[in-house]
Amino acid sequence: MPSTQGTQSQARIDDLRRRKETIKLGGGEEKLAKQRAGGKLTARERIDALADANSFQEFSMFAQHRCNYFGMAGKDAPADGVVTGVGTVDGRYVHIASQDFTVFGGSAGEVHSEKVVEAMRAALRTGTPFVFLNDSGGARIQEGIDSLSGYAKVFYANTQLSGVVPQISLICGPCAGGAAYSPALTDFIIQTRHAQMFITGPSVIKQVTGEDVSAEELGGAEAQMHYSGVVHFVAEDDEEAVLVCKRLLSFLPSNNLEDAPVQPGEYSLEPEPALNEVVPEDARQPYDIRDVVARVVDYGDFMEVQETYAENIVVGFGRVAGRTVGIVANQPKVFAGVLDINSSDKAARFIRFCNAFNIPIVTFVDTPGFLPGVSQEYGGIIRHGAKVLFAYSAATVPKVSVIVRKAYGGAYVAMCARDLGADRVFAWPSAEIAVMGADGAAEIVFKREIEAAEDKAAARAEFTEKYRSTFSTPYVAGSRRMVDDVIEPAQTRIAVARALESLHTKHELRPAKKHGLMPM
Ligand code: HXC
Repeated sequence: MPSTQGTQSQARIDDLRRRKETIKLGGGEEKLAKQRAGGKLTARERIDALADANSFQEFSMFAQHRCNYFGMAGKDAPADGVVTGVGTVDGRYVHIASQDFTVFGGSAGEVHSEKVVEAMRAALRTGTPFVFLNDSGGARIQEGIDSLSGYAKVFYANTQLSGVVPQISLICGPCAGGAAYSPALTDFIIQTRHAQMFITGPSVIKQVTGEDVSAEELGGAEAQMHYSGVVHFVAEDDEEAVLVCKRLLSFLPSNNLEDAPVQPGEYSLEPEPALNEVVPEDARQPYDIRDVVARVVDYGDFMEVQETYAENIVVGFGRVAGRTVGIVANQPKVFAGVLDINSSDKAARFIRFCNAFNIPIVTFVDTPGFLPGVSQEYGGIIRHGAKVLFAYSAATVPKVSVIVRKAYGGAYVAMCARDLGADRVFAWPSAEIAVMGADGAAEIVFKREIEAAEDKAAARAEFTEKYRSTFSTPYVAGSRRMVDDVIEPAQTRIAVARALESLHTKHELRPAKKHGLMPM
């Protein structure tokens, strides 16, 4: 017969188990079923998908709100609507917060937000990434300004973590008001097609501006990627969002004092003859720069960031000989690879991320320049373009540039020219490093000669060719030491890999300061 003490212990254990089971049910079976019926995983299922099996340690599981307003007194809020803790993802520790929409719509009250901040601070102390799975109606309305205070604490913590540990947000459900600003302060946002993200929803917009727009059109994943550039990756559903997150983490170091993990393996460093065929002979013909990138990174494995935003520039992660690199490349297929406001913002932000997390930057250049136009000038192309100049100049990580074709004017400089601190500059024989295209230059420099000529077209062609053969080659830049080497395209992967290997120990000091003043 069990002892009395044993019986009491068993009762307590049963009670504990019951309590935990109840908390794990969140807002209850009915609401969980509704969540699943909407094609979404629950907060705990998302964590199970992200973290390695049995690795998750939960924080503050028994937390409850302290709100007495509007019928909240005594109302149960399991885990106060957010599951937080630490687990491993592919063997590396990651701190996680996952909002539970089945508990008051995942809304963020005082305690809810404090739990999120607790996980963030733990990420900061341990130098591990923070992943926030968002599914929330925003500030918990019943808690009034206490929820605003909670959100402010999250934003403050986001800012403290920024540049110290990678922060990734998954947008898995509605993300209204304050719920959109914490993700905006993180490094990468992955949004599912089941989710919407906006500051003010369609009904408020209708009242204020009269515009009629659906939630999907306004804040769907495509809209927030393509139009606003807020989102970095679009995923079909929660499962895919988690896979994207895992893949992204695999490229990143755990914190700003570490290097990204090296992918073990044997890497072929053989010539890639196909690279000799990528760039068309006619300089006006477009091609896809991703065909070049894929032949330089290991196994063609390139994770493009913001694929459908400002497509005239391509940014993303790959590896060269097992080590992570950030790729920045003009895309001649879209607007000839011109630099404009949005592509400048996209590139500058990515360069800043790479620099903060010790990721070398490889730049592929084929751009006719900055985009001319009234809307670009009024929109502040001077300010936005300057972000690229600033970001490259301020970056102390290894910087390797490959000039593939056009590198004209200010855009040549902006795409990490030698004098912007490129450690190594390679040019292909097709490179045209010039203040402008030969056609335009000939029109200006030889204006009188062309006007005086009997056959103007022939004269124009002759002078254009004269300018091109003088300046539109890589050899003048080579003679000025703006190019280290002119290489056969097929040798690019080898040249980049060897340069990066020799730059691995690069250490560059800058004058001490609180922070620079990047044009915003
Ligand atoms: C408290 C909330 C809530 C909130 C939703 N719920 N949002 N409770 N505070 N902010 C509750 C609902 O009352 C409901 O409870 C349950 O969550 C599910 O919500 P539904 O409306 O039934 O779900 P759905 O139809 O899917 O719509 C989801 C939604 C909608 C689009 C998020 O609920 C909504 O518009 N919520 C309000 C959004 C909002 O205005 N938030 C405040 C933003 S202000 P029951 O009990 O019925 O299941 C803000 C300021 C921060 O965030 C500023 C910081 C800078």
